[in-house]
Amino acid sequence: MKRTANRAAAAPSSHAAHLAELRQRYDHALETHGFDAVVIGAGSQLPVFGDDQHYPFRAHPWFVQWAPLTRHPDACIVYRPGRAPVLLLVEPEDYWDRPAALPGGDWAEGLPPQRCTSLAQLHRRLPRRRVAILAPPEQAKQLAIVGSRLNPPALLKHLAYDRAIKTAWEVAQIRLATRLALKGHAAAGTAFKAGGSEHEISHAFLSASGQSDDELPYPTIVALNEHAATLHYRHRDRRRLPRRERHSLLIDAGCSSAGYASDITRTWAARRGPFARLVAAMDEAQQRLCALVRPGIAFGELQLAAHDEVATLLEDSGIVRLPAAQLCEERITDLFFPHGLGHYLGLQVHDIGGNLVDRKGSEGTPPARFPRMRLNRTLAPGQVLTVEPGLYFIEPLLRKLRQHRRARRVDWGLVEALRPCGGIRIEDNVLVTPDGAANLTRSA
Ligand code: GLY
Ligand code: MN
Ligand code: MN
Repeated sequence: MKRTANRAAAAPSSHAAHLAELRQRYDHALETHGFDAVVIGAGSQLPVFGDDQHYPFRAHPWFVQWAPLTRHPDACIVYRPGRAPVLLLVEPEDYWDRPAALPGGDWAEGLPPQRCTSLAQLHRRLPRRRVAILAPPEQAKQLAIVGSRLNPPALLKHLAYDRAIKTAWEVAQIRLATRLALKGHAAAGTAFKAGGSEHEISHAFLSASGQSDDELPYPTIVALNEHAATLHYRHRDRRRLPRRERHSLLIDAGCSSAGYASDITRTWAARRGPFARLVAAMDEAQQRLCALVRPGIAFGELQLAAHDEVATLLEDSGIVRLPAAQLCEERITDLFFPHGLGHYLGLQVHDIGGNLVDRKGSEGTPPARFPRMRLNRTLAPGQVLTVEPGLYFIEPLLRKLRQHRRARRVDWGLVEALRPCGGIRIEDNVLVTPDGAANLTRSA
């Protein structure tokens, strides 16, 4: 009874309200799958083979959803339905290392940390019967208890289905992560105009957003010129290009707040001309696609709409002299836009649950035209997703186009002129609301 009263009192975007919702979700999931308790590990540090160092620590998202601690290896949450969740930290006495400071915020009211000085001490505090352990393999060994099951797939799918719907607190974190990233993007644009190298532009992003490399939800993608044709380009060239050799910048970079990600892409043209016009037209197309986001629409429909938009760009710009409908039908658009329109966003940049259609873990059938879509679910209020159409000049795909029976309809002169620009992607983060959508990126 008391818990219900507390829930009613908590402000909707407070961590208390978030925890209350999580507890309800876990109560239902644990009961459905026959567990009395769950232990959720933060993960452990992964040693580098043959070395005395560790890889950068990535906290386990299922843990971070409860406690916004991204720098506390070996910690765990113990939750037994009907009782308050317990946060256990491991802080051995050690003069080589010291534990990270706990972040501020209202989260600790519902999860007062309990400190253990050893893994053995933590182990003694774990529940013993019908326990589900959710933890990455490197931590699972230390949490193992007789009578427990490690990462039960059916339970994880049930929870993953629910995780697609963000609580108000989670949306607030994604908004904060968005604001940080936009500061970084503004600085990156300035660095590009000043002639900065990819390395310098990446630094400008980090410095303005105030994030360190290991906090980012994914490594920055900073691609000058034809590098933009590699979708996840990760090499940050240190060369500064002379003005006449600088054509474009594609920067795909996000930030994190309390472990929640933003994922934003902007494309810049160095000068006026066909590429700049294509970027402007893509920006308008992307906004039209964002405006289609609403509850009840299947993401596959948006994917099709994106191909219609890309087809229109190809036709209107004269890159291919065929009607847009035909470009779509004959899959010529696939050769310019070879990725999905978007994905869920949250604790992971490609957040989970996009293919589940129910808590039992059934997977939806993707549209025949797009059999490998990462997001294939009907949109519902509370989901946060990216909308990121693109148009690229990718050498291996252009080779296919040269073999295509419609190759003679391509303006190869224009393609050659645009190829040094690499490509365009424009990516925003969008919240599905009860009556439509809110573009978290543009509204920030
Ligand atoms: N940043 C990776 C992606 O947009 O999916
Ligand atoms: Mn994305
Ligand atoms: Mn991205």
